[in-house]
Amino acid sequence: MRHDKSLVVDGVRQFFGVKGSQVQALSRIDLVIEPGQFVCLAGPSGCGKTTLLRLVAGFMTPSEGKITIEGKSVKGPGPDRGMVFQAATLYPWMNVRSNVELGLKFQKVSKAKRREESERYLNMVGLSDFAERRPYELSGGMQQRCQIARVLASDPEFVLMDEPFGALDALTRERLQEELLTIWRETGKTILFITHSVEEAVFLGSRVLVMSPRPGKIVLDIESSLEEGSERLPVSELRSQPEFMKLVDQVRDSIHGGTHV
Ligand SMILES: Nc1ncnc2c1ncn2[C@@H]1O[C@H](COP(=O)(O)OP(=O)(O)OP(=O)(O)O)[C@@H](O)[C@H]1O
Ligand SMILES: [Mg+2]
Repeated sequence: MRHDKSLVVDGVRQFFGVKGSQVQALSRIDLVIEPGQFVCLAGPSGCGKTTLLRLVAGFMTPSEGKITIEGKSVKGPGPDRGMVFQAATLYPWMNVRSNVELGLKFQKVSKAKRREESERYLNMVGLSDFAERRPYELSGGMQQRCQIARVLASDPEFVLMDEPFGALDALTRERLQEELLTIWRETGKTILFITHSVEEAVFLGSRVLVMSPRPGKIVLDIESSLEEGSERLPVSELRSQPEFMKLVDQVRDSIHGGTHV
């Protein structure tokens, strides 16, 4: 179940548009992500976070540099990488359960097993009662939860999440944070998680990265020592811990370029 693939981002730059009106989204990214890390990525809007995640997912190839998994160049999307998009992307003609089971269907998993897995994850995201509904019958946050269930159910080695909890209420968000941490601890998946919440990044990440404003580059890369205790405190209690507050300050300072804004 645990995987041992490392992900390397090597000298990656990304440009968009044609010469003359070119936008440089990524300055130069060099990163080694070890198997089983929970990497949180924060940074100002438009700095290139989604771009980096899309490159890792294989939806596009970098203008310069390369991305490799276990030494093999990423050439396109694959079942080893599951992406939760910033805006939910569900198939409107399929009900919630079929959307969640889709990845498993591609993997030729039996119907009974598919049902078992979809039940598990629909329950986790609180959508069991909506399994037969179509996406348009769900709220935005519910669609987002369905998307999360779909990606986790298909059991990829790398889970790429682009602000997955941004549209959720505080309670649901905290519950899903805890669930995601449990899944991460149990499965040893590698998670790359974008968030605008500094507290969320520090709470979830075993490693926290901060990107500068566009063209994005990594300006902070820290390991979180919070993981050293075997059981972490819930976020509500962690907030008042000095170690937590120190990390939050460090990340916040880095996002604001060393000065409080
Ligand atoms: N397909 C594209 N074509 C042209 N420009 C793009 C494209 N995708 C992204 N960009 C540009 O690249 C820059 C980085 O965008 P990106 O979506 O990666 O930012 P982000 O850090 O995810 O921002 P946010 O926090 O607002 O989601 C932006 O200036 C954006 O306009
Ligand atoms: Mg984005």
